[in-house]
Amino acid sequence: MTDGGAVRRMLLTNIGELVTNDPIDGRSGGPLGIVRDAAVLVEDGRVVWVGPAAHAPSHADEVRYEREDRRDGDEHRAAWDADVEVVDLGGRAVIPGFVDSHTHLVFGGDRAEEFAARMAGRAYEAGGIRSTVAATRAATDDELRARLRGFVGELQRQGTTTFEIKTGYGLSVADEARLARLAAEVTVEVTFLGAHVVPFEFREPDGPGADAYVDVVIGEMLEACAPYSRWVDAFCERGAFTEAQSRRVLEAGRAAGLGVRVHGNQLGEGPGVRLAVELAAASVDHCTYLTDADVAALSGSSTVATLLPGVEFSTRQPYPDARRLIDAGVTVALASDCNPGSSFTSSMPFCIAVAVRDMGMTPAEAVWASTAGGAAALRRSDVGALRPGSRADLVVLDAPSHVHLAYRPGVPLVAETWKDGVRVA
Ligand code: NIG
Ligand code: FE
Repeated sequence: MTDGGAVRRMLLTNIGELVTNDPIDGRSGGPLGIVRDAAVLVEDGRVVWVGPAAHAPSHADEVRYEREDRRDGDEHRAAWDADVEVVDLGGRAVIPGFVDSHTHLVFGGDRAEEFAARMAGRAYEAGGIRSTVAATRAATDDELRARLRGFVGELQRQGTTTFEIKTGYGLSVADEARLARLAAEVTVEVTFLGAHVVPFEFREPDGPGADAYVDVVIGEMLEACAPYSRWVDAFCERGAFTEAQSRRVLEAGRAAGLGVRVHGNQLGEGPGVRLAVELAAASVDHCTYLTDADVAALSGSSTVATLLPGVEFSTRQPYPDARRLIDAGVTVALASDCNPGSSFTSSMPFCIAVAVRDMGMTPAEAVWASTAGGAAALRRSDVGALRPGSRADLVVLDAPSHVHLAYRPGVPLVAETWKDGVRVA
């Protein structure tokens, strides 16, 4: 409620193609629940009605409004007209706001030179993370905050309305806690990733080793970060943490009330997917190298496979096979993994274009995966779709259909971004 109790009501209309991700009630729009020549009625930041513009609620609609407005005829029409802000979207396409379920947006410095060296032939290694750890530890809160706020604007301009942020570039109790605290200033989807890599001061032969570091992660560090976090994550990969170490971290996080997510199967086949499914993780992310057993395990589970096309683009590794996963019945999400090492893009449209071009996804599947799929990976039912009850988080495209997101790669098609019924970009 705003203005002393009045409902803030807005009718977005003249939408040429509306992607609802809500393929129910006999709509013929396929899995995206497409409605043509559509309208969306928003009240106080939430969607209350979606359908053909010709059937939009109006002053004549007594059913929906009689509980709060029992006046008739002209009086009712005048009240409706005064109440409802009508926004004409000029026949453009509207999709739910992107849900980027995997980013690492609190960090110092960048690694442009490492990227350039990779493009000249050097391989990607998880160890590069430590150079960002050094730059992040050296940065002040205000420096990290200013950078982070810049990224939030960047995300909004590209249509992202919900995003997750991981810690993982602090790797000391104090630094992980401050990254979690800073991330929590801009999102509720904060993930504690103390188990990103073993920091240099713990590395053998001079330091006490990975298991000693895990002791800190599941003890003091978890305690300091949990109040700011919704999730726990571990990088279960050669060069990072073993299955046993990852399990200790994830189980401790779960015992502290956090939901589980896993980085796995990025650099080679390994135990990450199996562990994620065993722990009923919300998501296992990367999934670049999968065995048939991994795919079978995922398909029988509630764990979302989150694919990160920016990583393979920026590391010149083979792309994950989305087709194989979708055909096996696995729920697939797309996310940016925005970070200075393996994928320095914050653009979901870019991820969609790559996923369609190189990962076997149709444009519709890729749009679903970057909206509803991301919401599934974050176990959120209030975002990722446009149906009654959803947050009014949406993107107006300078295009007649969602297909253009893949069809016109690199073109800035996001014309407007709306978050909770307010235009933010
Ligand atoms: O998701 N895989 C582990 N972590 C990040 C990479 C971080 C970095 O290289 O700085 C990722 O790709
Ligand atoms: Fe990541």
